[in-house]
Amino acid sequence: MRAGYGRSVFEPLLPLILGRDVSGEVAAVGTSVHSLSVGQEVFGALHPTAVRGTYTDYAVLSEEELAAKPASITHVEASAIPFAALTAWRALKSTARIAEGQRLLVIGGGGAVGFAAIQLGVAAGCYVTTTCGGNSVARMLESGVEQAVDYTAEDIEVAIKGKFDAVLDTIGVPETERTGINFLKRGGHYMTLQGEAASLTDRYGLLVGLPIATSILLKKQIQYRYSHGIEYWWNYMRADSDGLAEIRRLSEIGKLKMPVEKTFPISQVREAHEAKDSRRVPGKVVLELD
Ligand SMILES: NC(=O)c1ccc[n+]([C@@H]2O[C@H](COP(=O)([O-])OP(=O)(O)OC[C@H]3O[C@@H](n4cnc5c(N)ncnc54)[C@H](OP(=O)(O)O)[C@@H]3O)[C@@H](O)[C@H]2O)c1
Repeated sequence: MRAGYGRSVFEPLLPLILGRDVSGEVAAVGTSVHSLSVGQEVFGALHPTAVRGTYTDYAVLSEEELAAKPASITHVEASAIPFAALTAWRALKSTARIAEGQRLLVIGGGGAVGFAAIQLGVAAGCYVTTTCGGNSVARMLESGVEQAVDYTAEDIEVAIKGKFDAVLDTIGVPETERTGINFLKRGGHYMTLQGEAASLTDRYGLLVGLPIATSILLKKQIQYRYSHGIEYWWNYMRADSDGLAEIRRLSEIGKLKMPVEKTFPISQVREAHEAKDSRRVPGKVVLELD
């Protein structure tokens, strides 16, 4: 967003406040809010199109975007979880409707969304396989995957065996898309996080870009249904109170964790962004307020 992602939506609304995830204390509630009270510790994430983000002392969220913070983890730990986990939730639960005993392939399990997807899949009783960098393999195996394939050292198409009910592709480049689709059973779901809706509307504007994106998506859906018998999706994060409640439950009992690599005071937001951009910090970065 800082570099211009989503400009077709956000440019007319500048200045905007960045930040989606939050963990903190309720300072005030509106009259229609029933599930939250002042002083309560909560965590959650704003919808992707929100203009007033969470890089602030006070953030404004709707009731469905928040849940009680898991008591067993700190605010720093809690704030790293919701946006990534809700993105994974939407793909696995709302789109693919994964069920116990199914086989799930997560391409890019080393990233935040991928790691959340693995843990949601394992908790749902799925057999999970993932691709990740060599440094992430041990963490993947600890989280309960059946197989973690190092994409920097192995040929994924040779190393992974059998077919899957669902593939979540967090990388979404042509190569991973081709691989993911070829690993699906008939009737399976391929879900990429790199749908072209934002890039096309940013390039051509909402009025032209959105219809182009819709026609590209429809064409791919029809093409893959005929050629491979599979369902093809572009997946986007969406606030979901049922999803957040389950994410909260799993985080509370230690079944959904997000490693926090580094924290910065909010006054050093520039340094935090530079650390992520330069890839010096592999995992989540959290901004802290006094
Ligand atoms: N559509 C949406 O609503 C939505 C929501 C959230 C995020 N996203 C997008 O989804 C992507 C992932 O987000 P994130 O927050 O999970 O990112 P992240 O935490 O920064 O993860 C990136 C990780 O991807 C792994 N990786 C890179 N190339 C790979 C490859 N060829 N095969 C397997 N793994 C590879 C690396 O893991 P290793 O360290 O293991 O190498 C890297 O650490 C980003 O592009 C983000 O913009 C989309």
